Amino acid sequence: MTTILGISAFYHDSAAALIKDGDIVAAAQEERFSRKKHDSRYPFNAVKYILEENDLKLSEIDHIVFFEKPFLKFERLLETYLAFAPKGFKSFSLSMPIWLREKLFQKKFLFDQLKQHDENFNDIEKIKFSEHHYSHAASAFFPSPFKEAIILTLDGVGEWATTTVAVGKDNSLKMLKEIHFPHSLGLLYSAFTYYTGFKVNSGEYKVMGLAPYGKPKYKDLIIEKLMDLKKDGSFRLNMKYFNYATGLTMTNKKFSDLFGHPVRNPKKDLLTDFHMDIASSIQAVTEEIILRITKNLADEYKLKNLCLAGGVALNCVANGKILKEKIFENIWIQPAAGDAGGSLGAALAYWYRELNKPRNEFKDQMKGSYLGPSFNKNIIEQKLNKLKAVFQKKDTKEIITTAAKELSKNKIIGWFQGRMEFGPRALGGRSILADPRSEKMQKELNLKIKFRESFRPFAPSVLREDVSEWFDIDCDSPYMLLVSSVNKEKKIEMSSNDQNLFGIDKLNIKRSSIPAITHVDYSARIQTVHKETNPRYHDLLVEFKKETNCPVLVNTSFNVRGEPIVCSIEDAFNCFMGTNLDILIVEDFILFKDDQDKSLLKDYKNKFELD
Ligand SMILES: [Fe+2]
Repeated sequence: MTTILGISAFYHDSAAALIKDGDIVAAAQEERFSRKKHDSRYPFNAVKYILEENDLKLSEIDHIVFFEKPFLKFERLLETYLAFAPKGFKSFSLSMPIWLREKLFQKKFLFDQLKQHDENFNDIEKIKFSEHHYSHAASAFFPSPFKEAIILTLDGVGEWATTTVAVGKDNSLKMLKEIHFPHSLGLLYSAFTYYTGFKVNSGEYKVMGLAPYGKPKYKDLIIEKLMDLKKDGSFRLNMKYFNYATGLTMTNKKFSDLFGHPVRNPKKDLLTDFHMDIASSIQAVTEEIILRITKNLADEYKLKNLCLAGGVALNCVANGKILKEKIFENIWIQPAAGDAGGSLGAALAYWYRELNKPRNEFKDQMKGSYLGPSFNKNIIEQKLNKLKAVFQKKDTKEIITTAAKELSKNKIIGWFQGRMEFGPRALGGRSILADPRSEKMQKELNLKIKFRESFRPFAPSVLREDVSEWFDIDCDSPYMLLVSSVNKEKKIEMSSNDQNLFGIDKLNIKRSSIPAITHVDYSARIQTVHKETNPRYHDLLVEFKKETNCPVLVNTSFNVRGEPIVCSIEDAFNCFMGTNLDILIVEDFILFKDDQDKSLLKDYKNKFELD
């Protein structure tokens, strides 16, 4: 048995993953344990969890693979600073001490961190390094169901590459093309995230969610002024408008002047139609670039399968467009597409590239992405008692029927069962569930449960067997990374009066028979639920359908704004007591809010730093 531990850290979203003879057995992000969102420190807790779960000591692990090459990255930083000197000196002088201390001497640094788990770990030569985009590409291809595929990775930046194309066949994965820093689709999107007043590296979802409220008025201007975009989708950014290579902000005055508005200050400037139009425009540009790249790749390599990874692959609207345009026959996207997934990719890259092991099975290897901790009944009961929770223990069937009934009565449920998801999406392991047929649900969930902006859309979980009846899609989307539209007969058309509504008022319109998950443009980010990977959640949807004729539920991550998704029973109980959740279900245990000791209620809203 060969064990390989993959680690990604020190940039954003640190994580660890373990494969045993190529089989993916565990993976988790550090933020879930440390409770610090996007935690980028050495993933001590994630590694600890993985070792304990698999009854392994660190010294027993055969290979430890870090997801990128620190020296290449150092070289990129150095050359960038030199190229832009003396302008780049400020960010150079700020980041160099950190680099020298932690990153440049990463092997020794990593060795010291790893040793904390096991003092008998003495073999520094077990630590290996993959490359950033190779790790992304490996995470997208090797667990995919494809024997052969084109792999496209898109992110902010790794060492040098920001966009890569690779071809995968059996156990080989070869890089074909790269676009290099500072020309980056991820950083371009982040520049607009910054400009619209959201936080870079986490607010990108908000820009994507805001986009359908606006019109792509600035699309041509962006393409004309900010970049040189070729027919094949390759691009160079006009660095005169950006500040990220040299300064401490993403954009500069010239950028603001181009659009005629300053950077939005989230503390005092409200979101207006201008910001919605900007969001719509950068989303349209992103889709244009991704469609050009994928069309060109499909023509050039004549392969029918596409794999995606890298932070930009979390842009599920763009992914949905690739699918809709039928550019490739099949698409598979790594659920942990961001840097967290690099840990898994690094481990897989070592297994297939360095050890040259064959791929035996061509089916999805991610196990539904349920790769994190789970808890047995005794532990749950013990912990709930310790928390002074008032709970009932039922059999599984009863839990499912009660949950379906309560959901149909507009109750909102915290749903905690099985192993925690790997990747940014909650997929029915650590989810908040609600009835999508309710008109008030979107607003209520945003304001009373998640404590976040009221425009943010919610996503549906739907039985795989019923997806095409409700949505304009008929393929697997188990990781909630494809956007499609609600089917015509489920839609309720807007009147022209409704269409003229300004900004956030547009929210309060019933758009379909499942309004809570229907975005302003009738789109929905879909998760298909499969009996094989999550039988319990599948059963709940079947039961809800029996109750309501609707095989769809609202599924949003189990957390509040700024908080990482809950990991432990304690996290789930705290979130339950700190929000307006009506019911908490932990495996076969059910807790009603009304039964709980009122003195345990918490003011939870401001506990986490706003993202
Ligand atoms: Fe990345």
